[in-house]
Amino acid sequence: MPDLPNRQIVLRRRPTGLVQPDDTELISTQAPAPAPGEALLRTTYVGIDAAARTWLDDQPGYLPPVRLGEVIRAAGIGEVVETRCDAYAVGDVVTTLTGFQEYVIIRDDVFSTPIPGESDQLAIMSVYGPTGATAYFGMTDIGRPKPGETVVVSAAAGATGSVAGQIAKIAGARVVGIAGGPQKCRAVVEDFGFDACIDYQSEDLAAALKAHCPQRVDVYFDNVGGPILDAVLGRLAHKARVVLCGVISSYLTGEHPGPANYVNLMSKSALMQGFNTLEQWGRFDEAFAHLRQWEAEGRLKHRQTIFDGIESCVEALNGLFTGANIGKTLVRLSEPALA
Ligand SMILES: NC(=O)c1ccc[n+]([C@@H]2O[C@H](COP(=O)([O-])OP(=O)(O)OC[C@H]3O[C@@H](n4cnc5c(N)ncnc54)[C@H](OP(=O)(O)O)[C@@H]3O)[C@@H](O)[C@H]2O)c1
Repeated sequence: MPDLPNRQIVLRRRPTGLVQPDDTELISTQAPAPAPGEALLRTTYVGIDAAARTWLDDQPGYLPPVRLGEVIRAAGIGEVVETRCDAYAVGDVVTTLTGFQEYVIIRDDVFSTPIPGESDQLAIMSVYGPTGATAYFGMTDIGRPKPGETVVVSAAAGATGSVAGQIAKIAGARVVGIAGGPQKCRAVVEDFGFDACIDYQSEDLAAALKAHCPQRVDVYFDNVGGPILDAVLGRLAHKARVVLCGVISSYLTGEHPGPANYVNLMSKSALMQGFNTLEQWGRFDEAFAHLRQWEAEGRLKHRQTIFDGIESCVEALNGLFTGANIGKTLVRLSEPALA
């Protein structure tokens, strides 16, 4: 295989707040030749997840921080272009931790999953991967919505929230989204089929929750934490379930202000439970079987916000925090051969 230029984005300085130009550097190297037991993958799409920003901080989490000088870690998908590994043939489509780079070495290990070649790569990245599994396990294991109940979902126009709310609709619940701005609220209702959506940037949240949830809130799927979590805790129904999926409002500051209305958990005999999707790894097939059936029945839709080129990876990551996306945020690094 001739020399292949491999552009990568590496971490130079730990960001404070949004990632700034000097925090990262776009470098150009040669794609490595695979050793025995390895294959070379050409990245097609990099998935942009909120977790990628937390990995840039010097805080141990469920994965170690990205080291200075290292390629920024991210989950993505690509196609095998060269192989010395029995598990992969040239042309295979594989999801893995591609990182922000155009080529990556993969092995036959837990980080890399071969995908049937005819699969829609956008759907894999949006629904049939960790994003869809997060919505599924959070909503079905913890939220457990019943017909007629009221479910509220924050970051409702985003990748996880849009799927979580649709799962609650499929369960027969009345679903109210919370999102930033009129365009997103329109998408939440018209594209994702929620019953209503509150624009937290222009509406009084407590008053809007009262108006849209007259029977109070039975299930709250929380992606953001902060003042939005506090407002919804103030409107809980008896025996409510609060799904702690993420706290994106505090990832840039690292500060987690406590919600005053947590006392409602006691007075409403409510449950609040967090979860880490990766702990459900062994059950992903169960989640994807349900999600595939719902998509085939026309009851589950997905959307993407797609950026182009490795130069836009950082802008795309920052966009999760400025609210630039509807649906799953992806960066296209090369065209899928089977598109
Ligand atoms: N528990 C798990 O295992 C697990 C796994 C995956 C993801 N997650 C969590 O799921 C959440 C959503 O992640 P995603 O990848 O699907 O992202 P996303 O929802 O597609 O994008 C993030 C959205 O968050 C909203 N947001 C950003 N800053 C905010 C703020 N200060 N206040 C209120 N809303 C804010 C923005 O929407 P608006 O414009 O509407 O504000 C933005 O579009 C994150 O908290 C993530 O950490 C958890």
